[in-house]
Amino acid sequence: MTESPTVFPVCIAGTGSYVPERILTNAELAARVDTSDEWIVTRTGIRERRIAAENEFTSHMATHAARKALEDAGLSAADLELIIVATITPDTPTPATACYVQQNIGASKAVAFDISAACSGFLYAMKMAKRLIASGAFNNAIVIGAEKLSHITNWEDRATCVLFGDGAGAAVLRRAQPGEGAVLATEMGTDGSLTHILNVPGGGTACPITAANVNNHLATLTMLGKEVFKHAVTRMKEAAEIVIERAGLKPEDIACVIPHQANQRIIDAIADRLAVPNDRVFMNLHKYGNTSAAAIAIALDEAHRTGAFKRGDHIVMVVFGAGLTWAAAAVRW
Ligand code: COA
Repeated sequence: MTESPTVFPVCIAGTGSYVPERILTNAELAARVDTSDEWIVTRTGIRERRIAAENEFTSHMATHAARKALEDAGLSAADLELIIVATITPDTPTPATACYVQQNIGASKAVAFDISAACSGFLYAMKMAKRLIASGAFNNAIVIGAEKLSHITNWEDRATCVLFGDGAGAAVLRRAQPGEGAVLATEMGTDGSLTHILNVPGGGTACPITAANVNNHLATLTMLGKEVFKHAVTRMKEAAEIVIERAGLKPEDIACVIPHQANQRIIDAIADRLAVPNDRVFMNLHKYGNTSAAAIAIALDEAHRTGAFKRGDHIVMVVFGAGLTWAAAAVRW
């Protein structure tokens, strides 16, 4: 997609994140399925992940993250105009999880809806929010990535259950004042010929929820891991290069790359291909695993709060997910 001219510059004014208390370690998983801490760490880099309580829904995690992001941005919920939640694990098929968040935080003036773009959802939402603010339609927005992947994980499948976790992250976007940062360039892409390599086959109209379908694990994530790996590296590298160039930057200008937190080997391969030193690549997947749409949002918040970049620095976020979908954003902080 090409970038249309921005009317108003748009900045990221604040971030927030939340992960559930319960830690599920590799050792605990090894007691359930035929795997080992050594296999998981070597193949993925993941050491533990967070699992939401049974009565803790996606909207609850999204709400915690949203409150923190609003506080960081110094924006009151009453003044919030737009809420977009990116999720593949909504509280309910309808209404949207964003509507529950609106109620929870008291943002009665805000328009609220969800988008479904799997792990790419947060950056898809960010691009939409950016354009809506840049066009003058809204003054501000919160974009939230929130997932309860434990709900759609097949806990008997060692090839997938070691990868995923739960959590939420959020970012407040608003019209930027002179001298403030800006979302400089964004890129999104989709390849619908690859729907089969990563999906949840059941639970929709194609394969409704029945007892038999649930017993056959059709309501949980299935994946052709090697295929996903290959496409992830290619697409993320291309998307990152596009936004770096579109922003008028070079790889050496990037203070921090925040990639989708799916697999350390994928991240290393992208850092290599982009020629960005490893110490400029932010990673927290050892603590949380892959939390889909939440992953990049949580990583952005942690990178921001731990000082991985400072005001005026250029950062690049880049993601991929089921669909296949991918997206990237270059931001001056
Ligand atoms: N523990 C131990 N062994 C496991 C295992 C586990 N958790 N999961 C798979 N294996 C086994 C396989 O059964 C296979 O055994 P075999 O050789 O006897 O058949 C062997 O390990 C190798 O499996 P393979 O799938 O080839 O491993 P891999 O090196 O491709 O790594 C992934 C598997 C899933 C870690 C890797 O493909 C990957 O990360 N893909 C991308 C996944 C992703 O990012 N998904 C989210 C997208 S948003």
